[in-house]
Amino acid sequence: MQETIEMQLRPKTWDDYIGQEAVKTHLRLMIDAARDRHEPCDHLLFYGQAGLGKTTLAYIVAHEMGGVIRTTAGPALEKTGDAAAILTNLEPHDLLFIDEIHRLPKPVEEVLYPALESRKLNLVVGKGPAARTLSIDLPPFTLVGATTRASLLSSPLRSRFGGIFRLNYYTLADMEEIVRRSARLLATPIDDGAVTLLAQASRFTPRVANRLLKRCRDWAQVHGTNEITADAVAATMRLMEIDGIGLEETDRRLLKVMIERFGGGPVGVRSLAAALNEEEGTIEDVYEPFLLTLGLLERTPKGRVASRRAYEHLGFKIPSQLV
Ligand SMILES: Nc1ncnc2c1ncn2[C@@H]1O[C@H](COP(=O)(O)OP(=O)(O)O)[C@@H](O)[C@H]1O
Ligand SMILES: [Mg+2]
Repeated sequence: MQETIEMQLRPKTWDDYIGQEAVKTHLRLMIDAARDRHEPCDHLLFYGQAGLGKTTLAYIVAHEMGGVIRTTAGPALEKTGDAAAILTNLEPHDLLFIDEIHRLPKPVEEVLYPALESRKLNLVVGKGPAARTLSIDLPPFTLVGATTRASLLSSPLRSRFGGIFRLNYYTLADMEEIVRRSARLLATPIDDGAVTLLAQASRFTPRVANRLLKRCRDWAQVHGTNEITADAVAATMRLMEIDGIGLEETDRRLLKVMIERFGGGPVGVRSLAAALNEEEGTIEDVYEPFLLTLGLLERTPKGRVASRRAYEHLGFKIPSQLV
């Protein structure tokens, strides 16, 4: 099988996995201790924004435990039978990865409780008065769940994870290292200025950095230069309508609507969603976290407020209450 670029760029060992030091240290400890005891590692939950490295981390954990990873996703497990089929096919020390675990249907979640707690699968066979429960022993396994929305996880499910890890946005220094590493793996020379620009425009998110880097590589190739220079990055970003701090057209539109239509706020997510023709969840999960991190948006009890920095960045006159 030919490796896709995504697979090629995905870190495979702890050393490749840049940043998130606190998470790494704690996870390594859990895994090493479990391995010494010849037991599977406790069930793990990874949460954080899309593209921060949750799936990557699950693969590294599987690799470290010497097991095979089986991957599925919350929405794919529609019926209890789907979950039963996956669980009964597990081999000892496998890692079961459930992406978007907040989207598991409730009945499927309930099948997981005894599976996680006592490695038992309880199946109801037959119908009506003849129905009985069959209990099947499952092999030792580790469940790794990933979600962008930990708050949507029910507390019974959450309480069954022995380790809950939050992935944070990366630092600029980490982002620079990630850009350099990816460029090296793509065998594309890149200069220091380009690395800095890319790191700054990547929303502190490795997946975004890799995407931008690939587009810059295209640009450089088409323009007959093999090296990615700062000019190449700037030109590519103009093409993609991404500005120097990583805002895309949709982010700018959100801030603009807040300022022009709602006087800078406070405005509720629902009104914003209606004005932008977006879903509330998308605004809360995709746009807001990054705008909050940059200090362009603030959350107040009365709603969202555009900050002074937002006015400045978009070139609006700063209103008197923010001066
Ligand atoms: N810590 C890291 N160091 C280097 N590259 C990373 C790191 N985390 C993620 N990446 C890169 O970003 C991409 C997206 O990561 P992924 O694990 O799919 O994110 P998530 O599952 O959280 O959405 C990966 O393919 C990988 O190349
Ligand atoms: Mg993922």
